[in-house]
Amino acid sequence: MTEKQEKLHQRIEEKFKAIDQNPDVHLEGLIWAKPITYWDYIQTDALLNLQTQRTTLPDEMVFIMYHQINELLFKMILWEIDQVASNDNLSPAFFSEKLNRVSRYFDMLASSFSIMQNGMETEQYLKFRNTLTPASGFQSAQYRIIEFASTEAINLVDNRFRKDFEANASEEKIYEHLYWQAAGKDHHTGKKNTLITNFEKRYKKMFLQKLVDYRSTNLYTLYKSLPIEAQKNPELVQAMRHFDKTVNITWVMAHYYAAEKYLQPDGKAVEATGGSDWKKYMLPKYQRRIFFPSVWSDDEIAHWGENI
Ligand code: HEM
Repeated sequence: MTEKQEKLHQRIEEKFKAIDQNPDVHLEGLIWAKPITYWDYIQTDALLNLQTQRTTLPDEMVFIMYHQINELLFKMILWEIDQVASNDNLSPAFFSEKLNRVSRYFDMLASSFSIMQNGMETEQYLKFRNTLTPASGFQSAQYRIIEFASTEAINLVDNRFRKDFEANASEEKIYEHLYWQAAGKDHHTGKKNTLITNFEKRYKKMFLQKLVDYRSTNLYTLYKSLPIEAQKNPELVQAMRHFDKTVNITWVMAHYYAAEKYLQPDGKAVEATGGSDWKKYMLPKYQRRIFFPSVWSDDEIAHWGENI
């Protein structure tokens, strides 16, 4: 054996002995291991078998696949945010690097939304959407988790109730007043529409746990825990502003314009598949979602989502 091979052998011995395993068995296993291929590694067969249409209309495939691409990117975003959330020794450089990655993914989501707005025939959309009711992208759990992981829950509370909330309100109370409850909850009677009822049956328990998990590890709380000098770093502030604006204005408006094209084809709004009062609900100036309020001026906050 060469000196290099001997060293490798020694490291393999150390690795497996440390976990009470016989290194020879693992080395012999290598003899029978399949050589890796692109398709096994990327799991292309599994991935490309996940597109099942409910109708015969070809543009439904564009709709399904674009949603799946979004979910993959949401997963990439959470992958980066969770590395920040679980880092016990967070440095400004690491924080910025991860924030920039997340921003790039959201840039991609925002700029590619034209695939929805321009890439499907309205006539086809208006037909296949009937088979989707009462489902909606609103029911994307990863999108909600990205929000919980990005900011303090108080910033996600419906703007109408936010000022009366204590920062230490219970997760249950916060949850019941999240801005998105407005898509289908009557706050006077507590009654919820099918869109939200179905969503909660599937995910409410997990959402409450996520609210607990990210209470002290969301991006905004972690940003505020960095040394003051680091918090003022112009590049970091720029990255925070960019992320906030891309998620809460640029993406939201791209989404709104797509909805306007399909749900108001003759200038008259039709009901959304999820059933929200979408013309009002989807606009940033009503929702007033702002992940990182301290990186914006009072004036910028007062005019959030206007002039777009
Ligand atoms: C033509 C394409 C689309 C239309 C017409 C549309 C329409 C809507 C409407 C009307 C709502 C409000 C809830 C409701 O009543 O259904 C909504 C919510 C939502 N949609 Fe879409 N959508 C489209 C594409 C997408 C895509 C590609 C995604 C990516 C996953 C997505 C994700 C969401 C999310 C996360 C919400 C909740 C946003 C919030 O609470 O502010 N949508 N959508």
